[in-house]
Amino acid sequence: MGETRQHPWTILEILRWTTGHFQEKGVSEPRTSAEVLLAHALGLSRLDLYLRHDQPLTPEELARFKAFILRRRAGEPVAYITGHKEFWSLDFKVTPAVLIPRPETETLVASILDVLKPETGNQKPKTGLEVGVGSGAVIIALARELPQVRWVGVDISGPALAVARENAVRHGVAGRIHWLRGNLVAPLKSGPRLHLLVANLPYVPRPVWEELPKDIKEFEPREALLGGADGLDLIKPLVQAAPGFLLPGGWLALEVAEGQAAKVAAFMEQSGAYEQIEKIPDYLGIPRVVRARRGE
Ligand SMILES: C[S@@+](CC[C@H](N)C(=O)[O-])C[C@H]1O[C@@H](n2cnc3c(N)ncnc32)[C@H](O)[C@@H]1O
Repeated sequence: MGETRQHPWTILEILRWTTGHFQEKGVSEPRTSAEVLLAHALGLSRLDLYLRHDQPLTPEELARFKAFILRRRAGEPVAYITGHKEFWSLDFKVTPAVLIPRPETETLVASILDVLKPETGNQKPKTGLEVGVGSGAVIIALARELPQVRWVGVDISGPALAVARENAVRHGVAGRIHWLRGNLVAPLKSGPRLHLLVANLPYVPRPVWEELPKDIKEFEPREALLGGADGLDLIKPLVQAAPGFLLPGGWLALEVAEGQAAKVAAFMEQSGAYEQIEKIPDYLGIPRVVRARRGE
């Protein structure tokens, strides 16, 4: 983009140039990155970019977009640059204090809704807990789908809870979620009172974390990703503690990394407190959620 141009860049020209530039620089998802960032710089939707492909950029728009290009080239994830990420067809605010919600995490939401379908005959839940809320994507999606449930959302990170709170207000569910800061279930009074318990805890094993791409390792919060030597440092104690908080017949659903589902299912078996233990695949067919019911 360095050369002096006679004419201003059009949307299509700059998209093509940026995609090529990102490809050369090894930026992941070069075309999508270019489109999302250009749409954000121009205040347009991605579809608008194509409908207005001949539109020239003003010098201010070009300057804004150039700044985004530089940030993305340095590895910053697109969602931190735009401050938004879609999850469960809802728009979430994201900041570097929270993990960017991943599409595969929609499996966690769906795994709970599945067991509550009318044909299952399962009771209507009234109380739910999410441990490790981050941006609030999971608890807010569930709160919108299950309007009769009152939720508690826990996170160890105060800045993450602030983002989750904002997202709950934005999506009209703030009145049904109570936020607590602390370690796993420690901030809750003990005693079985939950119908639902969900968590997408940090589960990346340290050796895998060491090798993660720069976009993730250097930009997303380490405490949202790293789960100790085998990735199960937090999942294991939660599996042990959950039966003390779940009502008989209550559901536990945990997101896990590829290759962890069998181990987590085995912890549940060993605890003797669970029944109907199931491994649920994500849209790629990878076992992504382990779900179980507390025995009656
Ligand atoms: C993988 S992120 C999940 C965020 C969000 N639920 C999602 O699915 O996008 C894990 C979250 O757990 C939180 N966390 C890490 N250790 C924790 C702990 N010991 N107790 C409670 N929350 C914890 C992190 O701050 C982070 O927000």
